[in-house]
Amino acid sequence: MRAVTLHPDHSITVSEHPDPRPGAGEILVQVRAAGLNGADMAQRQGRYPAPPGFPPDIPGLEFSGEVLECGPGAARFGPGDRVCAITGGGAQAELVTIHERLVMPVPGQLAWVAAGGAPEAYSTAYDALCGQAGLQAGERVLIHGAAGGVGTAAVQLAAAFRAEVHATVRNPDHRDAVAKLGATVHAPDDFSAHGPFDVILELVGAPNLPADVASLAPWGRIVVIGIGAGAEATLNLGVLMYRRGRILASTLRARPLEEKALLARALERSVMPLLGDGVLTVPVAATYPLDRVADAYDRFSAGGKLGKVVLLPAGDQPR
Ligand SMILES: NC(=O)c1ccc[n+]([C@@H]2O[C@H](COP(=O)([O-])OP(=O)(O)OC[C@H]3O[C@@H](n4cnc5c(N)ncnc54)[C@H](OP(=O)(O)O)[C@@H]3O)[C@@H](O)[C@H]2O)c1
Repeated sequence: MRAVTLHPDHSITVSEHPDPRPGAGEILVQVRAAGLNGADMAQRQGRYPAPPGFPPDIPGLEFSGEVLECGPGAARFGPGDRVCAITGGGAQAELVTIHERLVMPVPGQLAWVAAGGAPEAYSTAYDALCGQAGLQAGERVLIHGAAGGVGTAAVQLAAAFRAEVHATVRNPDHRDAVAKLGATVHAPDDFSAHGPFDVILELVGAPNLPADVASLAPWGRIVVIGIGAGAEATLNLGVLMYRRGRILASTLRARPLEEKALLARALERSVMPLLGDGVLTVPVAATYPLDRVADAYDRFSAGGKLGKVVLLPAGDQPR
C-alpha cells in the first residue's frame, strides 16, 4: 500500500509499505478520508512519537473508509460497510487495520470527507464537554480556539445539547462562521468580560488559564485539551478555591482500548446520528489527494483555517 511516511529529517513523502493484515478482532479498511491533526504536525517534528503497537512512521489519528476484510473473531462489520474511527496512528494510508470495538458505522448520508474529519474532533469535544465536564443544558460554556477542528465540533455539540455557547476565535474572518455554528463569538483577549462560565474548554493553552479561572462560575469546570500556546501557567489557587472550581485535563491518543471503545459507543449513540441528520457538521477548510500530503501539512501548519484539513487516499469520491 501507499502511505504518508515521516522521515527522521522531518521530511514527508508518500511511500510503499507492506499491506497490513487484520489480526484477531480487527478489520482491514480501505481509507477514503483521513483528517489531519496537530498531533501529526508534532509527530513529524519528532516531538510526539506513536504509541506502542502503531506504525512509528505512518501518521494519522482518524479515518473513514470501507471494510475490506475481517480478522479472526471480528464479527461486528462485514466487507463493504462504511466505518470511521480514531486510532493511535497509521490512518494516513490506503489501508489501515483497527480493532472492531473502536470502529463506528458511518450514517448513510454522511460524506467520506466529513466522516474522515469527524472522529478526532467530535470524540475530543464530546469526551471533554459531556464526559469530563458533565455539561448540562442551560449552562454557559466557553470554547477557546473555536475555529479549529475540535472547536467547531465543540461549539455545535454544546449548542445541540442546549448550552449557552460562547467562543473565542483569533481570525476575524471566521468569527461570523463560528457564530453561525451556534456561538456568541469574542476576540481572544475579550472573553473575561462575558463570564462567568460554567464550563471552559481550553484548546489554546496556558496563557488563558489565569483569566479562565477568574471567569469561572461557582462550581465551574475548566477542561484543558490543547496546549499549543504553552503548557506552563501561574494560577491564583485562592480564586479557584473561592469559585469551588475544578481544572480537568486529558489526552485521547494514549488511552487503552477499553476506554476508547467506551467513547466510541457513546459517540455512536449521541453524536453520529446528529452528524447523519446534518444537525452537526464538519467544516472542511481544504482536502488534498495523498500525493499532495506535504501541501496538506503546510496548510494545517499555516493556521487561520476554519475546521479540518482532510487527506483523500482513494481520490475524491463523495460517498
Ligand atoms: N488532548 C487531546 O486528546 C487532544 C485531541 C485533539 C486535539 N488536541 C489539541 O487541541 C488543540 C485544538 O485541536 P484542533 O484540532 O482544533 O486544532 P486546530 O484545528 O489547529 O485549531 C486550533 C485553533 O486554536 C487557535 N489558536 C491557536 N493558538 C492560538 C493562540 N495563541 N491564540 C488564540 N487562538 C489560537 C487557532 O487559531 P489560528 O487558526 O488563528 O491559529 C485555531 O483556530 C490542539 O492543540 C490539539 O493538538 C488535543
